[in-house]
Amino acid sequence: MDRTTPVVPAADIQRQKEYCQELRALNAQKPAPPRAYVDTYGCQQNEADSELLRGMLWDMGYQIADTDQGADVIVINTCAIREHAEQRVFGNVGALVHGKRKNPAQIVCLCGCMAQEPHVAERLRKTYRHVDLVFGPQALWRFPELLRRVYLRRGRVFETAPDDGAIAEGLPVRRSGKLKAWVSIMYGCNNFCTYCIVPYTRGRERSREPEIILDEIRSLAEQGYKDITLLGQNVNSYGRDLEGGWDFPRLLEAAAGIPGEFLLRFMTSHPKDATERLFDVMAACEKVAPAIHLPFQSGNDRVLAAMNRRYTREQYLDKVRLLRERLPHVVLTSDVIVGFPGETTPEFEDTLSLIEAVRFDALFTFIYSPRKGTPAAELPDPMSKQEKSANFDRLVAAQNRISLEKHRSYIGTVQRCLIDGAGEDPRNSLTARTAGGRLVHLSGGSALIGQFADVKIAGCSTWALFGELT
Ligand code: 5AD
Ligand code: SF4
Repeated sequence: MDRTTPVVPAADIQRQKEYCQELRALNAQKPAPPRAYVDTYGCQQNEADSELLRGMLWDMGYQIADTDQGADVIVINTCAIREHAEQRVFGNVGALVHGKRKNPAQIVCLCGCMAQEPHVAERLRKTYRHVDLVFGPQALWRFPELLRRVYLRRGRVFETAPDDGAIAEGLPVRRSGKLKAWVSIMYGCNNFCTYCIVPYTRGRERSREPEIILDEIRSLAEQGYKDITLLGQNVNSYGRDLEGGWDFPRLLEAAAGIPGEFLLRFMTSHPKDATERLFDVMAACEKVAPAIHLPFQSGNDRVLAAMNRRYTREQYLDKVRLLRERLPHVVLTSDVIVGFPGETTPEFEDTLSLIEAVRFDALFTFIYSPRKGTPAAELPDPMSKQEKSANFDRLVAAQNRISLEKHRSYIGTVQRCLIDGAGEDPRNSLTARTAGGRLVHLSGGSALIGQFADVKIAGCSTWALFGELT
């Protein structure tokens, strides 16, 4: 298949596997198996990347630990999307200095989006001298080589130069769950929304080959996975760099044709690229969950243009109308930013009126956070923090009311749910998800975990439904 995206040659992946074996042999000489801990911040893509890191660490002979206490290798997989996420990472990485003092042989690694920000790499280099290895998301497949370099030379390694990225296949994976799995279908983002750091940290859009993705889904279905989420920064641009006429609706339809009892989800969809054909496939395929995350970011046309979102409020509303024509009961969720530089309170009120018009099932609400190197960070931002917080509170209050009203409409209905875990409250010993992805608390025996069951909804809160087995 001809493609414009660079693919890592199989021989280079093989070399990484040889580094794994070399480290495995060294680790086998230790009195007890060494332990590695991977801590993950941020999005599902990072969760998926951490499963690859754990797969590589396992191949290198490390036991996977669930705490940093006493770990021989610590990997912090970071997120750069907002200032708050970065502050938490700096705080937690700073605290690791004590453990390292007790165990100087410990190796501390920092990877993920923060590693790809030049000012962060600089700060780590100068001030966080107990961090041994720093590498960005595009260098993830070379983790065995980089760790080996630190291990054998005991020097610090920074692999943080700008990198558009390539596709690396055949990496080992250790999945965290037995029911739910992530499948990356593409990496990177070309959209350059003016507030967003992701196109700078995760490189250019590149798609995995459809056959490889479909084989992975087939294998997950055979292993008994019940809930499979296809991941990409913008899944709707899948296939643009592939020959053969592949696009996201076609991939989704092909995935839904794979035998087995499972549901397919996907995220995230950019509204400008969400097509009628996508909605048709969602409506036609029983295995595709009736749910879509369609971030709108703002309800005001001037702000949308300043964000470089490339759709208007009316175009967004048209997409939602089209979607609901095809899937009247679709669960619709979204992301929104309050306090984009220059946003006035009347402009914010267009966001408020958009959520009243659409009535999302749930909303992820964020206060704008300036990211160094993005165009929005250079814009004048005269609104005070207090005014932004007041607008934010109004938005959250309105959405909480809508979420509660939406949840109330489930009462008395029977929902086919995947029982996915044990509940924390003894009166509700199980948790489940509706096909649309809403959380349900219910009681029942733990033997039901992993099964689809009909659940009658008897109550609700803003955040969850309460049900009983029928
Ligand atoms: N400030 C606040 N929120 C942001 N997001 C992305 N960048 C920023 C930023 N600089 C939000 C968007 C995106 C979600 C993943 O995070 O709403 O959809
Ligand atoms: Fe960021 Fe926009 Fe790309 Fe999403 S589509 S990752 S918000 S630049």
